[in-house]
Amino acid sequence: MNTQEIDCVQQSFAKVFARKAELAERFYVHLFARMPEARALFRGDFIKQKTMLTAMIAACVGNLEDGRTLQDLGKKLIEVHAHLNLDVRETEAAKRSLIAALRDVLGAELDPVTEAAWGRAIGLVAGTMTRH
Ligand code: HEM
Repeated sequence: MNTQEIDCVQQSFAKVFARKAELAERFYVHLFARMPEARALFRGDFIKQKTMLTAMIAACVGNLEDGRTLQDLGKKLIEVHAHLNLDVRETEAAKRSLIAALRDVLGAELDPVTEAAWGRAIGLVAGTMTRH
């Protein structure tokens, strides 16, 4: 990702941050609409799950310039999802769900340039969750 794309993602996330609970809520609404079978996989405290999701997104967004840290975060995501054997279809669903959730929260502020930058950022991290 270039500096401009990174700035774009970080600035739009700064706007979303105050509404991160809503972002997580919308993410799972979209994910379960695309993958109804995924709902049953979440056995723990779902409120905590939403906090962990936004904490992970915040950590990734904050470290887009830092390839090393981003790689470590990617490894953590592989570990926590390893038992699920996620494939490309599922990571693609996650990517689309996050973009859709951002659109729900940001409205027209998620312009095409910002959306494309988010697509690149998510691709960097989500790509690593797929089974190898
Ligand atoms: C944008 C993509 C995603 C991100 C950033 C993400 C992030 C996370 C995080 C941070 C955790 C908590 C890990 C911990 O316990 O420390 C987690 C757990 C989990 N994720 Fe994801 N996830 C993503 C996509 C998916 C997808 C596509 C699925 C499956 C359909 C999925 C299913 C799960 C499940 C089942 C758990 C464990 C929940 C439990 O034990 O109750 N995730 N995820």
